[in-house]
Amino acid sequence: MCGIIGYTGNKPAAPVLTKGLHALEYRGYDSAGIAVCGSEIVTVKAVGRISALEEKLRGRDLPEVCGIGHTRWATHGCPTEINCHPHLSYGGKFAIVHNGIIDNCRNLRVLCENRGISLKSDTDSELIAHLLEWEYRGDPLACLSRVAADLRGSFALGVLCADFPSDIYAAKMRSPLIIGLGEDMACISSDGTAMPKEVTSLIVLADGQVARVRPGSAEVFFRGRRVEPERVKCSSPEIAAALSGFPHYMLKEMYEQPEALARTVTEDCLGRPYLRRNVTLIGCGSSYHAALASKPLVERITGCSAEVCLASEFIYSEKTVGRGKQAVFLSQSGETADTIAAAEEAKRRGYLTLAVSNVHSSTLTRVCDEKFCTRAGPEISVATTKGFTTQVGALGVLASRNDEIAAALKELPFAAEKALAVEVGEVAKLIAKSVNPFFIGRKADYGAALEGALKLKEISYISALGIAAGELKHGSISLIEKGTPVVVVSTDEALGEKTLLSMATVRARGGTVIAVTNIDEVAQAADFVLPLPNVHPLLSAAVSVIPLQRLAYEAALLLGKDIDKPRNLAKSVTVE
Ligand code: AGP
Ligand code: GLU
Repeated sequence: MCGIIGYTGNKPAAPVLTKGLHALEYRGYDSAGIAVCGSEIVTVKAVGRISALEEKLRGRDLPEVCGIGHTRWATHGCPTEINCHPHLSYGGKFAIVHNGIIDNCRNLRVLCENRGISLKSDTDSELIAHLLEWEYRGDPLACLSRVAADLRGSFALGVLCADFPSDIYAAKMRSPLIIGLGEDMACISSDGTAMPKEVTSLIVLADGQVARVRPGSAEVFFRGRRVEPERVKCSSPEIAAALSGFPHYMLKEMYEQPEALARTVTEDCLGRPYLRRNVTLIGCGSSYHAALASKPLVERITGCSAEVCLASEFIYSEKTVGRGKQAVFLSQSGETADTIAAAEEAKRRGYLTLAVSNVHSSTLTRVCDEKFCTRAGPEISVATTKGFTTQVGALGVLASRNDEIAAALKELPFAAEKALAVEVGEVAKLIAKSVNPFFIGRKADYGAALEGALKLKEISYISALGIAAGELKHGSISLIEKGTPVVVVSTDEALGEKTLLSMATVRARGGTVIAVTNIDEVAQAADFVLPLPNVHPLLSAAVSVIPLQRLAYEAALLLGKDIDKPRNLAKSVTVE
């Protein structure tokens, strides 16, 4: 989940590393550190944001031209300076940064202790540094290969060795790692957004590979043999990732939705995958909500019932046989460990697998048989916005052999534009003061309601409850008291009567109804209305969610929360 960066070239490494860490901060941000390599390895670490690290670096003279950096999302041990990466080996020969979790860390800890090595931190990562020094016989790459083979779990590793001060060594297993090459420089990074602009080509490391990275070149090895790695041309992620005058990435990305939807729904049709019969839609978090919101559409198109499954639960459905079935995996990042594990399991069971991802050369797109790429552009805000809406749009494209859906898809970007103009200020004030607000809906509106509740929880820390409208009366209604806000998402005329009934039930208990709707009768019966433009009810979540995103954003702003970097979260969850 963390961000890794490494640089070797002809400029002092420290400023390049901190700049890269800023770009990666969205991946993890409880502590950060760098190590630079000259005649010896020097580390500088700080708890908190990258700015705290920069504060510590101010006034330090670090001319070294090779180094590694890390922004952490703790899995083992609290965010303290001792647990912060890079970790040094017992003799100071190696420094490492690690993204992931070492499953066999208990055994390795005992091994290190038996060897008389005293451990400083509570992390699983520190052990790797000690194992490297213990195994070292003069060839860092050989010892990294040996140590990596003994690690279980997930890791992307950046390694410095004091004997080779301009080399970076790298290893990868189930956590992403990219090498960037330019003239007289090279770098490693968890993703392309952090690469310096001198980078002209990228190498995407595959599981099990190790690499030696030097200015201008990289050698990649798999099981001791040199291999020709996959190369990707480099676009200019830095430009796309700038704030462009917006106060937060979340707001900027919300405003990018009409364009992102337009790009996604006009994605080249040639050779495009399509929905088969017997579809299972799988994802985590917001991607799971996009799957739920798209279930009625998929069922209409395939004429069969569709299943929707949380990726982290899919692997436990013991008896499922996939032959003749299609599993569609939704993931903005394409690097979510739960979703990748589910895709691997689906392949083992014989499903035809299709990845719907915003990252074209992600682990998920490589694991799946087919891919369809959403065209949202880089998403930096931890709380997804355009990632969600383009996923709903993408499912629409996969279903667009139906003329009615194809026509409705063309309208989506315009409807999204209108939804962005919906004024939410008054309702945001109400929500910011509330305890336990509800978000309810049926059918596609159910997925949108869950997503609205998640957005609010993520960035304002208000304990919102997303629930199927019909389920309210089966228990959760006990929480409704005078003034409890209930946000009702309602875009399907055919369900209007049932929606009115739910609203009446809420009002009878003193609840305040906020309708997010394009249906007049529903609007008239509400206390507050966030009016929606007309949109096809099977694609509506791509539009109805927009005022809900804005509502969460404005409420979090009123509460003074850190919108782009909410506590405890990270952008891509690369641990199961
Ligand atoms: C979104 O706001 C969340 N941060 C989270 O639920 C996210 O959607 C989930 O982790 C899945 O991510 P993915 O789409 O990159 O797989
Ligand atoms: N497991 C390591 C730790 O807790 C790495 C976590 C990360 O990926 O940030 O330090």
